[in-house]
Amino acid sequence: MSEYQKQYQWAKTQPEEFWGEQAKNIDWFIEPTTMLSTDENGIERWFSDGVLNTCWLALDYHCEQGRGDNIALIYDSPVTNSKRQYSYIELRDQVAKIAGMLAEQGVKKGDRVVIYMPMIPEAAMAMLACARLGAIHSVVFGGFAPNELAVRIEDAEPKAILTASCGVEVNKVLPYKPLVDKAIMDSRWKPESVFVLQRNECTAELTNERDIDWQVAYDTALPHACVPVLATDPLYILYTSGTTGKPKGVVRDNGGHAVAMKYSMNAIYAMPQDGVFWAASDVGWVVGHSYIVYAPLIHGCTTILFEGKPVRTPDPGAFWRVCHEYNVDVLFSAPTAFRAIKKEDPDGECLNNYDLSNLKTIFMAGERLDPPTLDWVESHTDKPVIDHWWQTETGWAIAGNTMGIEKMPIKSGSATKPIPGYQVEILNELGEVMGPNEQGFVSLKRPLPPSCLPTVWRNHDRFESGYLSQFPGYYVSGDGGYLDEDGYLFIMGRIDDVINVAGHRLSTGEMEEIVGGHPAIAECAVVGIHDDLKGQLPLGFVVLKDGQKIDDLDLEAQLVGKVRNEIGAVACFKHALVVERLPKTRSGKILRRVIRQIADGESYTVPSTIDDPSSLDEIKKAIGHS
Ligand code: COA
Ligand code: AMP
Repeated sequence: MSEYQKQYQWAKTQPEEFWGEQAKNIDWFIEPTTMLSTDENGIERWFSDGVLNTCWLALDYHCEQGRGDNIALIYDSPVTNSKRQYSYIELRDQVAKIAGMLAEQGVKKGDRVVIYMPMIPEAAMAMLACARLGAIHSVVFGGFAPNELAVRIEDAEPKAILTASCGVEVNKVLPYKPLVDKAIMDSRWKPESVFVLQRNECTAELTNERDIDWQVAYDTALPHACVPVLATDPLYILYTSGTTGKPKGVVRDNGGHAVAMKYSMNAIYAMPQDGVFWAASDVGWVVGHSYIVYAPLIHGCTTILFEGKPVRTPDPGAFWRVCHEYNVDVLFSAPTAFRAIKKEDPDGECLNNYDLSNLKTIFMAGERLDPPTLDWVESHTDKPVIDHWWQTETGWAIAGNTMGIEKMPIKSGSATKPIPGYQVEILNELGEVMGPNEQGFVSLKRPLPPSCLPTVWRNHDRFESGYLSQFPGYYVSGDGGYLDEDGYLFIMGRIDDVINVAGHRLSTGEMEEIVGGHPAIAECAVVGIHDDLKGQLPLGFVVLKDGQKIDDLDLEAQLVGKVRNEIGAVACFKHALVVERLPKTRSGKILRRVIRQIADGESYTVPSTIDDPSSLDEIKKAIGHS
């Protein structure tokens, strides 16, 4: 048996013993004696009687261990031309003061705090400060429009919001405060305080009673100690796109998360404790939560917070420059980022300017690692390139190549094998386990390992109906795929209305609600079509109400503006085509899959249940004209 197989079997057959062993690797205030139990909803929970504090693990613990002068966080911002480094002691002290600043405004254990911030160190500090207090943070990606922020504020009901005066994108400054004010105005829930960090690039007006100048409050704040919490107490809520317009609040607990983060740094990333880990993502996404903030710090590494892009900041050598400058050991990003680099520097010439000898492995996630991108990165960097598959819901990889246990041979197009702790099975529509190479619902047999969501925030029914009830005993991932004869997992894409645009998870259902809200539209369908750079892009098909006289291009511009205003520019909704009718089944279900296949130029089967086959010609005609 290989080492991977041994670990995998151990976790499968004796999960409590396996995870009990992993739990010894973190510094609990009170060690758990119960490894696995069931909560009031009937959901399996890890380490329910353990007591800890995640901020303690990430900062104070290392200071206590004599590693306080090590660099904890490097901030590198080509868009503002600034760089800074923080030792563990510096980071701990600043986080303790931010926690004190929040506590003075009444934030305490269990309260929610929304963080709407750009990629600056204070965003990570804000997360850790909440963890220190036992408050539950909910980070909202800075690229989301006020409506998305409002929906999250209304659901999370935060006591406070932490923000900055602006975000800085390539060649543009985006003021945040007006967006936050609009979101609060549109939300039924009003936070008591809004802390605003003024940045040099733009000054926000603090005119509301609830507005607080972050720096002024920080200067007089007293440091706050770590508040002990139960392993099962929530650390954060992270909203993610589902099939409807309302995002799902994925809940992450403290104990299971910390244990899984620590385990993953060794088992998956083979990360030396004093090494430099760089997840080139954003703190607004789960990758940023887990691998910019929590896992590297819990492990005692140096983490990098990069406020820039893979290209245009200033050139496609940005990733290699950062790896060289800070001696990065492990780089983690999305395939789309490397496709952007490849597009602008096809021969990898920028690589010649930098020394990557310290870089050991490049990991990718967020979308399937397409074979051409794998080949390009592998051949130009001469480093192992590892695809690994995961979701906001799990917080860490479900399948991957366990570099710290045993490096398995890579199969192009596969995320390799399930990580110990996960039992991946492919089920058909009846819930039967399928054989090798047969495609079906990629499902995880319960119990799920530590860190996976125990519920959807204040909507447990949604957790049951969205993930658990379809196949009793299993969690349904929402992805389709298959296991091959060697047990390698191939993820073939979503089987619901979620799409992935440049590594950003978005809901076409939500876009349909927005487009369908236009007064001229009778009905619509939005599908995700293939894009060489961003993986997928949304494309809308709309049917006008009778008697509407509106120019197609005007309508398209209005719809594009509407999605941009309500979701944000990241949705990349750029096209809407007018058709006479949409292809549907006789029971009225829109045939979105067939529409997408036609749009992508793929072969498709006309379902026998189609109501009017000529409606397919409408789609072809609209695409032909676009
Ligand atoms: N705040 C405000 N606006 C943002 C934003 C943010 N944080 N992030 C993106 N946007 C805006 C951009 O400015 C752009 O606006 P525009 O239409 O006015 O130009 C729009 O959203 C689309 O941005 P993006 O998707 O980033 O496209 P791009 O063409 O600028 O860059 C990539 C393409 C591939 C370089 C970029 O998407 C990328 O780096 N992706 C990796 C994503 C990632 O790391 N995901 C995490 C998973 S690991
Ligand atoms: P998110 O919750 O934003 O991380 O998005 C999760 C979804 O992204 C998954 O359900 C997949 O559809 C997709 N995804 C993430 N990583 C991979 C991967 N390595 N291969 C294929 N799809 C992936």
